[in-house]
Amino acid sequence: MEEILNQSGIDLLFGTARSYSKFRPQPVSDDILRQAWDLARMGPTSVNCQPARIVFVRSPAAKEKLRPALAPGNVDKTMAAPITAIIAHDMEFYEALPRLFPHADARAWFAGNEAMIQATATRNGTLQGGYFILACRALGLDCGPMSGFDNAKVDAAFFAGTSIRSNFLINIGYGDAAGLYPRGPRLDFSEACRME
Ligand SMILES: Cc1cc2nc3c(=O)[nH]c(=O)nc-3n(C[C@H](O)[C@H](O)[C@H](O)COP(=O)(O)O)c2cc1C
Repeated sequence: MEEILNQSGIDLLFGTARSYSKFRPQPVSDDILRQAWDLARMGPTSVNCQPARIVFVRSPAAKEKLRPALAPGNVDKTMAAPITAIIAHDMEFYEALPRLFPHADARAWFAGNEAMIQATATRNGTLQGGYFILACRALGLDCGPMSGFDNAKVDAAFFAGTSIRSNFLINIGYGDAAGLYPRGPRLDFSEACRME
């Protein structure tokens, strides 16, 4: 028989899961972040390229490095969050393809093809960021994703001299429901999907 996730598992990932701005004063261990990565890394990426790179910003000094890049509405909640993950991607991800996808010379499909590198790094890095949110939720953590920040400033502060570029941020902790807005409506199947 095919196994499916039970209702409480589905709720944990989707049904009752929310985007959190406030978190309870409960620390987030290194160990649970490692577990979340170990789950998220199993999600599929094209040619198994795995371009995502994550910096977990936790120390007050690192939070201060992040502060000037944040949109005004994202400052206080980010400074207060137990962890802020910078979801980034390595524009030289293809250098690892001989190890990650040994079935073919996949490195050659990317080297020198800037448009393909850009599209592949962004697409798959974003997917991996989504897998990471679901992995955090599966482990009982809550997330507050954010794109309201200056990517160039984050790249200068955290990735200077590297091939890594920021994509989006995720505040992570154990959510405080007191900070939640009412759930926003979602598009129905008939509005967002069609059969052909
Ligand atoms: C990629 C991304 C970027 C977001 N950027 C911000 C942001 O900059 N500031 C913010 O307050 N919320 C941000 N959000 C939160 C969304 O508004 C929130 O996920 C959405 O309204 C759904 O809320 P719910 O998960 O509680 O239903 C972002 C979410 C995503 C996925």
